[in-house]
Amino acid sequence: MANKKNYKSINDIEFAVRIIPKSSSIKNIKLIHVILSFIIFSSLFLLVNNKNYLKYSNKAKLIKSEKDVRVLGHFPYQETAYENLIEIQPNILVHKEMYKSLKDMQDDAEKDGIYLVFLSGYRSIKLQKEIFYSLKSVRNQIASERARVSAPPGYSEHSTGFAIDIGDAYVREADFEESFENTSAFQWLKNNAAKYHFKLSFDKNQNSVDYEPWHWRYEGSIEALKIFESSNRTTF
Ligand code: DAL
Ligand code: ZN
Repeated sequence: MANKKNYKSINDIEFAVRIIPKSSSIKNIKLIHVILSFIIFSSLFLLVNNKNYLKYSNKAKLIKSEKDVRVLGHFPYQETAYENLIEIQPNILVHKEMYKSLKDMQDDAEKDGIYLVFLSGYRSIKLQKEIFYSLKSVRNQIASERARVSAPPGYSEHSTGFAIDIGDAYVREADFEESFENTSAFQWLKNNAAKYHFKLSFDKNQNSVDYEPWHWRYEGSIEALKIFESSNRTTF
């Protein structure tokens, strides 16, 4: 063979040339390994152990990227057209789409010995304006104080026709009071309202609006769901 060398003794064989890395390079390589391992294991931990990680981070991004359209904690709502309304009780108008569910809920509650009374349904933006500013003035409240109990005009669910304030016919002193939650009407609603597509709008977790156990909104039609979409998106 052309490359074959003729060694006469063992001393003619060259020593292998060894390149020994400097000890500082070895330390750097070890450090990089440690850092990479840490990054990989941390990422795996977050992704595998927290099933909701991606879900929540995506939601957070969504909310961050959206402009917050709320005013003093209330979402904007358009006033529904008058022809969409129907009277369910003297002087109480509601959206035609929720009329039947609301009536069924009232009738079925009655079968259980519970008498639901409707206190307020549709309210025009003009009426909401009076409620907000007149009472704010009479009660000497600043806007953020007033907004805890009443939406500014253009920001009330009542203007959509899909909101209803409910009382207990036997406990009228609890009308529009937090104590309504102690009535049997409220207990019945808590256990049954979802069957008729009603949801409590202002629960105890709201930051800027007070708890309103009497205020329910209808989510049993696409129109209603679209109207309350933004509000539902912030409550997950
Ligand atoms: N009371 C509720 C917040 C409203 O005025 O719409
Ligand atoms: Zn209300």
